[in-house]
Amino acid sequence: MRLKPETDPESVIDRSFSSLWRYRGVLPIQPEGAITLTEGWTPVVPVDATTWVKDEARNPTGSFKARGMSMAVSGAVALGVERLVAPSAGNAAGALAAYGAAAGVEVLVAMPEDTPRAFVEECRHYGARVELVPGTISDAGRWLGDNRSPGDFDLSTLKEPYRVEGKKTMGYELWEQFEGDLPDVIIYPTGGGTGLVGMWKAFDEMETMGWIGPARPRLVAVQSDGCAPIVEGMRNDRERTQPWPDPKTKAYGLRVPNPIAGFLCLRALRQTKGTAVAVPEKDIIPAAAAMSAATGVDACPEAGAAWAALGTLRDQGWTGGEDRVLVFNTGTGIKYR
Ligand SMILES: Cc1ncc(COP(=O)(O)O)c(C=O)c1O
Repeated sequence: MRLKPETDPESVIDRSFSSLWRYRGVLPIQPEGAITLTEGWTPVVPVDATTWVKDEARNPTGSFKARGMSMAVSGAVALGVERLVAPSAGNAAGALAAYGAAAGVEVLVAMPEDTPRAFVEECRHYGARVELVPGTISDAGRWLGDNRSPGDFDLSTLKEPYRVEGKKTMGYELWEQFEGDLPDVIIYPTGGGTGLVGMWKAFDEMETMGWIGPARPRLVAVQSDGCAPIVEGMRNDRERTQPWPDPKTKAYGLRVPNPIAGFLCLRALRQTKGTAVAVPEKDIIPAAAAMSAATGVDACPEAGAAWAALGTLRDQGWTGGEDRVLVFNTGTGIKYR
């Protein structure tokens, strides 16, 4: 999409939509042709004077994955595909199953066999076929690769261009919700990386259009110490992430041992003067409960990791004082219990 300098936000934002479709001026799909369940435009919940939570649990199917799947399913259906397929840690599968149902297109999802049952049942409830595969999301992806039919369209993270376009709307929403400004720090639980990369793209677009200057929120990628390829890449100054051996975490969305967009995450973190934090696995579930108790949002384990990282970064003095910090609750916690 070609963006012009000095673009009036009013020519991009259509405020008649209380959903991500309000950003129709920078989206590859228009709402009139979209497969939509009214996704996005989620609230920013104030916690204290310098802390907010963006509550992505309020999306259809309860996670930020709805944003990308709405866009990607809309694009794929316009091409006339027969079946939509994707590997998933749980949330992307639920979203794909729902949007496939809304579009009237068959869905096949492959998930690790230890994925919490609620995600599996959710997919079946929407009429999707579910394949449970030993191992991680990488093994699920391999299984799909070996079992594909000619009419299948693969919606794997960053293997098609539209999911990231849906997720970039999180960045646009923050700009509006911070009244034409952005938080100083954004803490994001990171697995495959499209959430982080999508917002990074949105900020670049906004600068091109003259909405913001060159300053950026410092992006923080949070992982479990049981699977932390991005943290390892930052620590060792790598350009690309290395595959993480024997990945283990109950924050299933973070169990991505070899993220295809790892190099883009590393670039986004460095360019924004951000960082990456590995939270001890044993702290993650208690931190999700602490986050819910402190904020009232239904925090998923991935968000619990982000909440724990906030504590660590404040203890280290990496953030503090007047910094306005935004933590993402990327999905609902109830499906994990
Ligand atoms: C709840 C939740 N949080 C965070 C993530 C990680 O998101 P990304 O793959 O965009 O880094 C996932 C991915 O499955 C997830 O389900």
